Amino acid sequence: MLAMGSMSYKTAIVHHSAGGNTKALAEVIASLLPNAKLFRVIEFDTQTVHEYDSLIVGTYTWGNGELPARMSAFYAELEQMPISHLKTGVFGTGETNYNHFCGAVDQFRDMLFANSQLVATLKIEQLYQETDLHRIKKFASLFKN
Ligand SMILES: Cc1cc2nc3c(=O)[nH]c(=O)nc-3n(C[C@H](O)[C@H](O)[C@H](O)COP(=O)(O)O)c2cc1C
Repeated sequence: MLAMGSMSYKTAIVHHSAGGNTKALAEVIASLLPNAKLFRVIEFDTQTVHEYDSLIVGTYTWGNGELPARMSAFYAELEQMPISHLKTGVFGTGETNYNHFCGAVDQFRDMLFANSQLVATLKIEQLYQETDLHRIKKFASLFKN
């Protein structure tokens, strides 16, 4: 049994946001998962990933369907970790008028599919809207257990 006041986090949500769209999405996902701890990518120590049952990555897309630099560094670190039993998901925000909508989500998806137990991906157009909530809730519900 856990000591009073202690909290065991099952899910780490590691996100990166420049303008706030991905941050807002990360926060609503975290609010749906009481056992999740939200990190900005620069605060997260990749070596601690084994302390969690699940990892959810959230990123915007830069350049031409690319990972932002900080996410690129996290990607490279995560790729070297033994995460084959880790349940994972990836979400992101982007803009559909770019050639590769949420390309950074696709890059993480491919790596996490090969290296871990990827269960879901979620792509949202810029700042999430009320009409996106059903998809967001469905995504989050996959990390409740
Ligand atoms: C220079 C630049 C390049 C971008 N390239 C893409 C892209 O290739 N694909 C895409 O889906 N969105 C692209 N975007 C849109 C951002 O990913 C989108 O606005 C996102 O919601 C920003 O997230 P943030 O507010 O969390 O920083 C680009 C934006 C900028 C400014």
